[in-house]
Amino acid sequence: MMRAPLISSLTFGLASAAPFNWPGNPHHHDEINVQLGPRPYFVVNDMDEGPLKIKLQSCSEGPFYSTDFTFGHRGAPLQFPEHTKESYMAAARMGAGVIECDVTFTKDKQLVCRHSMCDLHTTTNILTIPELAKKCTQPFIPADPAKGTPASATCCTSDITLAEFKALCAKMDGSVPTATNVTQYMAGTPPFRTDLYSTCGTLMTHKEYIGLIDGFGLKFTPEAKTPMVPMPYEGWTQEQFAQSIIDDYKNVGIDASRVYPQSFLIDDVYYWIKHEPEFGKQAVALDEQVDTPEGYLNSTTQLATLAKNGVKIVAPAFFALVKLDTNMNIVPSEYSIAARKAGLDIISWSFERSGFLNHGGGYYYQYVKEVINNDGDMYTVLDVLAKQVGIRALFSDWPASVTYYANCMGL
Ligand SMILES: *[C@@H]1O[C@H](CO)[C@@H](O)[C@H](O)[C@H]1NC(C)=O
Ligand SMILES: *[C@@H]1O[C@H](CO)[C@@H](O)[C@H](O)[C@H]1NC(C)=O
Repeated sequence: MMRAPLISSLTFGLASAAPFNWPGNPHHHDEINVQLGPRPYFVVNDMDEGPLKIKLQSCSEGPFYSTDFTFGHRGAPLQFPEHTKESYMAAARMGAGVIECDVTFTKDKQLVCRHSMCDLHTTTNILTIPELAKKCTQPFIPADPAKGTPASATCCTSDITLAEFKALCAKMDGSVPTATNVTQYMAGTPPFRTDLYSTCGTLMTHKEYIGLIDGFGLKFTPEAKTPMVPMPYEGWTQEQFAQSIIDDYKNVGIDASRVYPQSFLIDDVYYWIKHEPEFGKQAVALDEQVDTPEGYLNSTTQLATLAKNGVKIVAPAFFALVKLDTNMNIVPSEYSIAARKAGLDIISWSFERSGFLNHGGGYYYQYVKEVINNDGDMYTVLDVLAKQVGIRALFSDWPASVTYYANCMGL
C-alpha cells in the first residue's frame, strides 16, 4: 500500500535523525554506517577449526557498529598514509570509536598529527620539494655502495612552519636504505601494505583532527610525542606542550570523557592527573620498557606504584600481555596479571601491524610465536586479550578486524 510521499519522507527523516541505541551497549555510536569490508571475513576463514572460528563465522551478517573497543592506530595505516584525513575517515568507517592523533609541533609551535617529530622524510614528499628539503635537519644523503653506507635524511616538523607542513603530501611510511636518489628512497612501502591511496594524503593539524573526529561523534586519543628538540623549546616547556594538547579540546567544548590523552613520558601523565584531573582520569601511560626482559620485569613490579600514583590505564604492546603455558596454550602474562591486580585498565597496541603471520608474526607475537603460523591466528590472540586479559581496547592499523570481533562478542 502506498503512503503519501510527504508523510513517508517525513517519517523517514525523523527516523534517521533519532538516535538508535543497541540495547545494552553503552560504548556504541550511531552516527556512522559502519562498513567492515572483506578483510575480517578473509581472516576468519583462515582460522584453524574450532569453537572460536564457528562463533566468529556466526556473526558474518552483523550488525556492525562503532565501538570504543577499537582504537584507530594512526587512523587506518595498513592501507592509508598514517595520520591523514583519509586515514582517519577510513578508521571511522571501519567502526573505530576512538581515533588517534600523535601530537607533535612545528617550528612555529603549532600542534600537528605525526607519529614522530622527525619522520617527514619517510611519511611525506618533503624530499621532492627543494625549498623545503633543504630545511631538513639532515637533507638527503644517497647510499654509497662503495663505502657501504645507507641512504639517510632527517626531516622534522620543527624544521618547518605550519604553512609549509600543510603544503606537503602524505605518503605511506617507508624508505629504501640502498637508494641512490630520492625517488628510490621514498619507494619503501612494505609489500603487505599498498600505495593505492598514497596519491597525496592530507596532513592534519591537531585542531583539524578534533573537528573531523567530533563531526563523526567519535572519541579522541591524542599522544604527546616525545619532542626531538631540547625542551624548553624557545621558552615553551614540556608541561606547556602537554597542556596545549588539552587546551585544544577545552577551547571547543569537548568533554573530557571523550578524550584519552597518552604519553610514553610518565611525567606527562602525572601532569594531566594533577592539573587536568578530568582528562587525567583517562590518561594512558604507554609502556615500552617491556621491550627488554629486564624492562619487562621492572615494569611489572612498578604497576602497583603507578596505580597508587593515580594512573588508571596502562598500555604496553600486546606481545607483553600474553605468553604460552606448558601445554602451548596462549594465556595472560605476568604483566597482565599484575596490572589487573593493581586495578589498572589495559589498552594495547597494535593489531594488524605485522603483515603476514605465517612465520611466527614477528615483534607483536614474540612470546607466542611457536603457535602462530597463519593469519587467522591473530583472532586467537585477540580472544585471549579480550576475554582472559580483559583489555579495555585495542589499537589497530585496520580497525575493521577488531570491530568485527568486538561487535561479534558484544564488546
Ligand atoms: C633513481 O635510481 C634508480 C635506481 O638506480 C633509477 O632506476 C632511477 O632512474 C633514478 N631516478 C632518478 C630520478 O634519478
Ligand atoms: C627500571 O625503572 C626505573 C624507573 O622507571 C628506570 O629508571 C630504569 O631505567 C628501569 N630499568 C630498566 C632496565 O628498564
